[in-house]
Amino acid sequence: MAPQPNAVRDRIAARIVGRELELELLMAAIATGRDVVLEGPPGTSKTTMLKAITNEWTVSLVLAEGNAELTPAKLIGYHDPAQVMRVGYNSGTFVDGPLVQAMRQGGFLYIEEFNRAPEDTLNALLTAIADRSIAIPRVGVLVAQPTFRVLASMNPYDNVGTTRLSTSIRDRLCRIEVGYQDALCEREIVTLRGGIDAADACAGRVVNDAVALTRATRVHDEIRQGSSVRGAIDLCFIAIELLHQRGLDHTADGYSSTVLDAMLAALSGRISIDEASGATPASVLREIWENHFVLAEALAEPG
Ligand SMILES: Nc1ncnc2c1ncn2[C@@H]1O[C@H](COP(=O)(O)OP(=O)(O)OP(=O)(O)O)[C@@H](O)[C@H]1O
Ligand SMILES: [Mg+2]
Repeated sequence: MAPQPNAVRDRIAARIVGRELELELLMAAIATGRDVVLEGPPGTSKTTMLKAITNEWTVSLVLAEGNAELTPAKLIGYHDPAQVMRVGYNSGTFVDGPLVQAMRQGGFLYIEEFNRAPEDTLNALLTAIADRSIAIPRVGVLVAQPTFRVLASMNPYDNVGTTRLSTSIRDRLCRIEVGYQDALCEREIVTLRGGIDAADACAGRVVNDAVALTRATRVHDEIRQGSSVRGAIDLCFIAIELLHQRGLDHTADGYSSTVLDAMLAALSGRISIDEASGATPASVLREIWENHFVLAEALAEPG
C-alpha cells in the first residue's frame, strides 16, 4: 500500500525544524508534478527540505550549480570526443549531464542559483520542463521517468536579480519563499547540528548568544547581507571549543571576549558590507558584540 500522505509528511517533518507551511506547499507542488523555484537567502533549509523529501520518496537529488559555466552541454550532456574518435557516435559515447541523469532516474534536478545560469541553458531546460522529454543528438528522444522534477533556488539578495529570468521560464515554475526562521527555531537548529547537550548550561548560553549575534548581522544598517544559521552553528562550535581550551565557562569574566574571538572567525567572512559604508566586517561585528554584551549588561544593571 502506498504510504499515507500524513505519515510521509510526519516523517519528513521529524528531520526538519519548523518550516511546516513551506514543506506543506513544497510537497503539494511536487506530489502533483509541479516544478518549483525556492526563493530565499543562503542557509534557509532549501537543500535540507529537498534531501528529506527525495530520501522519503527514494529518488535521487541531482545537483547543478547555476553559473556562467553551466552551458547547455554541461546541463544535458555531451558525446565524449575520445570515444567518438574510436567507435563513432552511438548512445554509449554520450555522457549524461545532470538533466539527463535526473530524467532517466526519475530524480529531482536541483539547480542552485538558477538565475545565474546562461539564457541558452535555461532555454534548453524549458523544453525538458514543458515536454518531460528531450531529444539527445544521435541518441534519440528520452522520455523522463514520472518522478522527474525540476527544482531551482534563487537568493533574493543576489544582485543578478530575478528579472533576468524570461517570462517563459517564470511562467512554468511555482515559487515558494523561504525566509529566515525565528530565533526559537534557529536555536533548535544550532542545538541539533552542533550536537549540543541540552543539560549543559554553558553550551546553552553559547547557543543563545550565537543565534542572537548572528541574527543581529541581518538587520545592521551597514551590512548588505548578514550571516545564515550556518554562521551561528560555526560560532557555537568555535566558542565552545575556545572556552574549553581556555578553561572558562559561561560565568567567567573571559566569556564574552571569547565569544568575540569566535564571532570574528565564524562571521567576518560571511557578511557583506554595504559598498557605501566605510566599515569593515570586524568593526561592524565588534559593534554588534558590544550592543549585545556591554549595553545589554549595562541595561540589566542600572547604576
Ligand atoms: N529547518 C531546518 N531544520 C534543520 N536543520 C536546518 C534547517 N534549516 C537549516 N538547517 C541546517 O542549516 C544548514 C544550512 O541549511 P541548507 O543547506 O538546507 O540551506 P540552503 O537553503 O540549501 O542554503 P544555500 O542556499 O546556501 O544552499 C544545514 O546544516 C542544515 O542542516
Ligand atoms: Mg543548498
